[in-house]
Amino acid sequence: MKPPSSPSCFTNAPDPTRRGHADREEMLSLLNELLEAERAGAKVTLRLSREANDPAVDAALQAVAIDEARFCTMLCLQIERLGEAPTKKTGDFYQKVMALDGMDARLRLLDRGQGWVVRKIREVLPRIVDGALRKDLGDMLATHERNIEACKRLSARGR
Ligand SMILES: [Fe+2]
Repeated sequence: MKPPSSPSCFTNAPDPTRRGHADREEMLSLLNELLEAERAGAKVTLRLSREANDPAVDAALQAVAIDEARFCTMLCLQIERLGEAPTKKTGDFYQKVMALDGMDARLRLLDRGQGWVVRKIREVLPRIVDGALRKDLGDMLATHERNIEACKRLSARGR
């Protein structure tokens, strides 16, 4: 086996002292769970962007909706790569958000939903051996972290 060419390669290697590597079944279950959540997220952000009175909020939510849709595609491809058909379900997050009154409450729940995605990925990432999957989920994590920060900045300037 070729030795790691740089320290950064080495840090990407799974740490054998951590909990066991995520197996195929665990990954499929998580990827499908994330896919259902991202579908709901795409639907929520698109709907809220249409309801936003502030053009900056509208634009930010549209950008998040595009990211959510992009991750739906990525998750479908990763599930197929593992030899399964992706779930066709959409999570109940959309109903939960729309059951709330007012934009502020809906955006707060959206923020919590995005935070849930971040926690899920952070938890599993160190246990993924598959490089392509680590890369895609790492991108999804970083994008969600960025979007949460962008939404916080919008909240700070007032809606
Ligand atoms: Fe999301």
